[in-house]
Amino acid sequence: MFCGDRKRPGWRAGVFWGLGLCALMMAAPAGAAAQGVLVPKFYHTVPLAKDGIHDPSDEALRLLQDPTRVLLNFPVDRLGEVDWMKTLDEGLIRPRGSVTGEGQPRVLDMDVLMKNTAEMPYVLFPHKAHTRWLACANCHSAIFVPKAGTNPINMAKVMTGQYCGVCHGKVAFTWILCERCHSIPHGSIPAWWK
Ligand code: HEC
Ligand code: HEC
Ligand code: HEC
Repeated sequence: MFCGDRKRPGWRAGVFWGLGLCALMMAAPAGAAAQGVLVPKFYHTVPLAKDGIHDPSDEALRLLQDPTRVLLNFPVDRLGEVDWMKTLDEGLIRPRGSVTGEGQPRVLDMDVLMKNTAEMPYVLFPHKAHTRWLACANCHSAIFVPKAGTNPINMAKVMTGQYCGVCHGKVAFTWILCERCHSIPHGSIPAWWK
């Protein structure tokens, strides 16, 4: 993983962030949680009765699908967590357009390139990947003003649950998977995960 990896030339920000990340992991969960950093939890490997959310003595628990069983054959990312975009692309799930099953989500195919990434590859924000599941009102305008470049996002905020971190690290893939957001190499900044 990150710790002590020196193979990426000219990548000071990466080394800085890598060291920060290692420190964070050593401090986790108590220290990191105290600073409000989202420590990823891997719910799909934990039975419902042991996830700390559901009441294990509740009879009705039997009616729910157990993630350790139903998510078993879904594609996973490099952390071993379910890769929900792949799951959707491969047609393994078909989310409803609404609670009643009526209507279709309004899919918007518009990427926003975010360049305020220091020595990291740029961030590509894909509206399409999001609007296949989420209505515009989930993000606009409580989380993001709908005007490219106007939202003062940085990693500290994402990691403590603001902006992208409202979902990423909670219900969508964690900030630890840098490469999924920082997907556009530029100048001398390499695609270091390849
Ligand atoms: C969920 C998406 C997402 C993930 C995952 C993510 N980032 Fe970011 N990152 C962003 C966004 C958005 C910005 C701000 C871009 C902008 O405003 O132009 C940003 C900005 C940054 C910046 C520049 C601003 C700052 O805070 O210094 C650095 C450095 C950075 N990220 C490093 C990382 C590293 C290292 C990782 C992996 C440990 C990572 N990021 C994972 C979305 C993400
Ligand atoms: C998951 C969150 C999310 C959802 C859902 C979402 N957006 Fe966005 N939207 C963003 C982000 C992030 C930006 C970029 C903001 C920035 O660059 O600071 C953006 C930017 C925009 C912009 C400005 C583009 C520009 O070039 O200035 C428009 C317009 C927009 N969104 C419309 C929509 C519409 C319409 C929908 C629903 C079909 C939608 N968005 C759904 C997060 C979202
Ligand atoms: C309202 C919730 C929400 C917010 C806010 C949000 N996302 Fe997402 N995002 C999701 C969900 C849900 C998925 C799909 C599930 C998954 O991949 O874990 C997703 C998927 C993605 C993907 C995956 C694309 C792929 O094809 O693999 C990228 C990239 C991404 N988000 C970047 C961002 C960035 C960058 C921001 C902030 C500028 C952001 N997201 C803000 C909910 C959100």
